[in-house]
Amino acid sequence: MSQLKYKRVLLKLSGEALMGQQQYGIDPHRIAQYAQEIKKAIDKGIEIAIVIGGGNIYRGLQASETGIDRVQGDYMGMMATVINGMALQDVLENHGMVTRLMSAIEMKQICEPYIRRKAVRHLEKNRIVIFAAGTGNPYFTTDTAATLRAIEVEADVILKGTRVDGVYSADPEKDKNATRYERISFEEVYNRGLSVMDMTAFTLCKENNLPLIIFDMNQEGNLLKVLKGDSIGTLVNN
Ligand code: GTP
Repeated sequence: MSQLKYKRVLLKLSGEALMGQQQYGIDPHRIAQYAQEIKKAIDKGIEIAIVIGGGNIYRGLQASETGIDRVQGDYMGMMATVINGMALQDVLENHGMVTRLMSAIEMKQICEPYIRRKAVRHLEKNRIVIFAAGTGNPYFTTDTAATLRAIEVEADVILKGTRVDGVYSADPEKDKNATRYERISFEEVYNRGLSVMDMTAFTLCKENNLPLIIFDMNQEGNLLKVLKGDSIGTLVNN
């Protein structure tokens, strides 16, 4: 435990990443791979809360294109995160971890309602807490939900697991001279117009002094490396 840099973390997983090679839904290999990564961290005594997106099932922003009202679409997106949360809970438990699924929108038959103090107790007992249904409000992303919950449960850091391995000076797919930042300040991210999270989430992080690490979650061993403080991905802080 002593060699790890963090004690309590909030892991943000994108819904899209769960698709793996598929066009839609949940790739069983990908979710199992995530479970193995998370198990390595839990076995080291790290307290982990997870917020998962829903983009592999439904994206709120899509809604307007299909003629569905934006707010209605956002709620549909929140439901998608509950489905992902249920899947993740099941897979994590099959891998021997203890979990609690909490939802920002009450649906008692399938998950606990989100109660901050209860969430903190679960974490103290080394249970993985999965926060589903975003913030429970339309117009907020799951990145914002992740930031809000991280602040509420006093996580040391947000770990944003993505397909890219950090923040680059330019789009690495378009500009071969793009370089990855090992560390960058919130201010610099803003001044350079780099995108790491939407502005609401970004501002919440900055104002509450909550560091953020963007890293490639699909690379085996990376989660543990990040927890050890290795220079994986990009650290954004004040
Ligand atoms: P403590 O005993 O306080 O440490 O926590 P606990 O979560 O083990 O206690 P509790 O008796 O609250 O929960 C036992 C099981 O019931 C856990 O798997 C919870 O996730 C589940 N549970 C608790 N409250 C709810 C709820 O409102 N809805 C659903 N669906 N499950 C719940």
